[in-house]
Amino acid sequence: MLQASEVLDFTDRAVWHSATTPDELTPRETAIVALGKQLFFDPRLSVDNSMSCASCHQPDKGWSDGEKTPLDRFGERIGRATPGLLNLQEHTVFMWDGRAENLVDQVALPITSPREMNMDLDQLVLRLRAVPAYESEFSELYSDGVTARNIQHAIAGFEKTLVSGVSDFSEWVAGDERAMTVQQKQGFQLFTDPQKGNCVACHHPPGFTDNGFHNLGLENVQQESADLGRYNIRPVALLKGAFRTPGLKDIERTAPYFHDGSAATLESVMDYYIEGGRHRSGVSPNFKPLDITQQEKQALVAFLKALTSRDAGS
Ligand code: HEC
Ligand code: HEC
Repeated sequence: MLQASEVLDFTDRAVWHSATTPDELTPRETAIVALGKQLFFDPRLSVDNSMSCASCHQPDKGWSDGEKTPLDRFGERIGRATPGLLNLQEHTVFMWDGRAENLVDQVALPITSPREMNMDLDQLVLRLRAVPAYESEFSELYSDGVTARNIQHAIAGFEKTLVSGVSDFSEWVAGDERAMTVQQKQGFQLFTDPQKGNCVACHHPPGFTDNGFHNLGLENVQQESADLGRYNIRPVALLKGAFRTPGLKDIERTAPYFHDGSAATLESVMDYYIEGGRHRSGVSPNFKPLDITQQEKQALVAFLKALTSRDAGS
């Protein structure tokens, strides 16, 4: 985790540089990614063949779903919003509460979750071994053929290739002065100004996340029914109602926002920050009502839209 406002100058655009193309892959890795992509879109990974990863993580929505929170197998709303899957390599922990420490482990969670794909991993292995195309593809790529670990490895390999492309912001970072408008540049300034937006206190370069957890007052943590977020994983008082700081690249594609999907647009996210939260109990010390004008709010929104890439990973 970066702790380094003394070391890193957040207003220096060079610190925001990050890759806009996926890493070069070896032929074997390329084949694993293709296999992982096939698995990601395959409803046979769910017990009743009704749901694939792509049911909730849709390519045209930044690999999110456009829902406040998604429907489970029984048509009931799940408690948390579906995050997009771009730039996962810029995260060190996964899920809103950080309960998955790496992408390979994460894959098992939705597959086995009773409300999602509800599939026993051993049963899934047997099912895929019975599909000749899978059986031969896995055997070519992995010495032990179809195993739960290899299924997870292939899907995670595919996910790592989902990277934001070139955006107005990335071109400006690379030195093209005209790539961002005057308003967007003002938005960037407000984003980094500790007296104004102070967004960089948590949305650090280059991935716009500190991989930390903060309570933004979305949950009433006094209430028994509240989602306590990170606290469920690490019961430390400070972490009650704290959720992981999401990255912000291609944020325009993944509305609605926040872990509960409660902000429909980027404008309403900004209104929420200006107001300083719904509940004040135990909020992060860096989360304070913003003292900005309507014009400054519009500049911040314009800046967030400069993070939309022309060609997001697909
Ligand atoms: C029913 C909808 C649904 C399905 C199906 C689903 N997901 Fe998700 N996904 C979610 C939700 C909701 C979260 C956030 C859960 C949380 O934080 O508690 C999530 C979180 C994630 C994350 C963490 C992202 C981050 O930034 O931390 C990854 C990675 C992911 N899903 C991949 C997958 C894969 C791979 C599959 C298929 C094996 C899958 N998902 C199936 C809804 C779904
Ligand atoms: C105290 C740390 C902190 C500060 C300061 C902060 N954020 Fe956030 N931001 C977060 C966390 C944590 C979340 C997720 C909160 C949740 O859903 O419970 C978030 C969520 C968001 C989201 C929604 C992302 C999504 O995928 O749903 C946007 C957009 C956003 N922040 C932009 C900003 C902007 C712009 C500023 C400055 C005005 C800012 N943030 C300041 C920590 C912070």
